[in-house]
Amino acid sequence: MSSPSSGEMVFVEHTKGVNGLPKVILREVRGCSAEVYLYGAQVTSWKNEHGEELLFLSSKATFKPPKAIRGGIPICFPQFGVQGSLEQHGFARNRHWMVDPDPPPFLTCSPNKAFIDLILKHSEEDAKIWPHRYEFRLRVTLGPGGDLMMTSRIRNTNTDGKPFMFTFSYHTYFAITDISEVRVEGLETLDYLDYLKNKERFTEQGDAITFEAEVDKAYLSTPTKIAIIDHERKRTYELRKDGLPDAALLFSSAVVWNPWDKKAKATPDFGDNEYKQMLCVEAACVEKPITLKPGEEWRGRQELSAVPSSYCSGQLDPQKALQSS
Ligand code: BG6
Repeated sequence: MSSPSSGEMVFVEHTKGVNGLPKVILREVRGCSAEVYLYGAQVTSWKNEHGEELLFLSSKATFKPPKAIRGGIPICFPQFGVQGSLEQHGFARNRHWMVDPDPPPFLTCSPNKAFIDLILKHSEEDAKIWPHRYEFRLRVTLGPGGDLMMTSRIRNTNTDGKPFMFTFSYHTYFAITDISEVRVEGLETLDYLDYLKNKERFTEQGDAITFEAEVDKAYLSTPTKIAIIDHERKRTYELRKDGLPDAALLFSSAVVWNPWDKKAKATPDFGDNEYKQMLCVEAACVEKPITLKPGEEWRGRQELSAVPSSYCSGQLDPQKALQSS
């Protein structure tokens, strides 16, 4: 890869971010970009070709390990939420990941140049709280059209013959103009567990999901495509959680979260009014934990795109169909 001074495109730049934490900047020819911190393997920025930020990152995010970074796309593993004995959302989001120098190849070849492979492995320290050996490989790719793809490959490397179980989510914080003007499509009529009501199960009513109060729900048996429509900005985010033909298991759930005013005020690394500019819609496996036997691998992929709202969600963009991991 050429140096930036040569005037040639640098697709992958290794640099330092806030508080000197290592980060990687991905760039694509049309001007879009993404930033990934090795701390938590967390995407903290995703910009379109006009330089507009598409992910929410709190102005109060601390970037101080061991606290997770508030915003972007934290990875919840091996536990989603408080469904287990670990700290909320597991430990992957507050571990220092490494660049994976030699990841096993993907089955499909990819023409993309702007990608980074990261890896997290078991440590003696973690074995005290989660007694398993594992390799978690994450590839973050920025496609030429600006799509952001994330593929996780989680392998059980236990040598004691024991399987392990985990829950998981890509905890994406979408940047939006005004929460009261946003609509989510693809989840209407589905069953959900309401975390604000002791995980009681309900069925969603109505045409599309809109917001006027705190929400913390896990929708079940969700479709592969969910749309988040920002009316004010005339932008639609598409979250696709298919795209892995060889995936053993796909994400079945989608968590929707907004803390609203009271919880935002009570959260130190969240601005009082910032809840208006964010919405979390998370591709997740939360209802039934995934079980992996030694030697088995689970793959889970999400693809995000941001398109003008006039784009009809039923159509397939031919450019996107050409892109893969
Ligand atoms: C959501 C959970 O995924 O994450 C919520 O459903 C939780 O219950 C939220 O409050 C934020 O979690 P955290 O640990 O990042 O503050």
